[in-house]
Amino acid sequence: MVKVWDPLVRIFHWSLVVFFGIAWITSEGFDSIHAWTGYIAGGLIAFRLIWGLIGPRYARFSNFIKGPGTVIDYLKAMAAHKEKRYLGHNPAGGAMIVALLITVAITVWTGWEITQPQYAHSDLMKTLHAFITSVLMTLVIVHIGGVVLAGLRHKENLARSMVTGEKRAPEDGDIA
Ligand code: HEM
Ligand code: HEM
Repeated sequence: MVKVWDPLVRIFHWSLVVFFGIAWITSEGFDSIHAWTGYIAGGLIAFRLIWGLIGPRYARFSNFIKGPGTVIDYLKAMAAHKEKRYLGHNPAGGAMIVALLITVAITVWTGWEITQPQYAHSDLMKTLHAFITSVLMTLVIVHIGGVVLAGLRHKENLARSMVTGEKRAPEDGDIA
């Protein structure tokens, strides 16, 4: 086994799951728990943006953000059951991470805007907030599906790796 995910990436991930989850559950009938857990989720995203620039190898955006061509090639390889195993995030996972980070940020921003006086008599931000949260929930479901699928393909428990930080050492043909 080799260490892949540093402690801060792991704490970031599971904290985001918890605070996003509480914000989601408390969204029916807005209250202060909804607002605060949402802002904490926003703070976590801010941390991750910095960590993506200065963190260790597998936490860095440069390690897992790939161009559209690479992402499409990876998805095609997946469809043909020929995709390589990545020790870090694979190109499709990397694209999903970018989408999740941006969408959580927009969710928090539109949530904050609802509470601003200039929107007190307008439903614009409420509508945007409700819409973007649906997009976010869809992305989360696809994200979890991708995690399960990649785990099955390469016979590893990726969720457990996000807890322990460890993954099976790279073998021939894997991308380390
Ligand atoms: C219980 C549900 C979830 C499970 C089991 C799960 C599992 C995982 C796993 C295994 C990875 C690493 C993927 C890889 O090996 O390349 C990951 C990454 C990630 N997930 Fe989740 N996830 C869950 C929910 C969420 C939610 C709700 C969000 C956002 C709202 C989220 C956002 C992310 C992000 C941003 C990353 C990138 C981690 C990083 O490098 O910082 N996940 N997730
Ligand atoms: C990850 C963060 C967040 C998630 C997942 C989330 C999700 C949601 C959802 C699903 C709703 C119900 C929308 C509807 O169908 O009407 C809602 C409503 C609301 N959210 Fe958030 N939210 C988040 C962050 C925030 C933040 C940071 C604020 C700022 C205070 C906020 C303020 C509100 C308000 C005021 C409403 C009620 C809107 C209305 O009256 O219709 N949210 N949120």
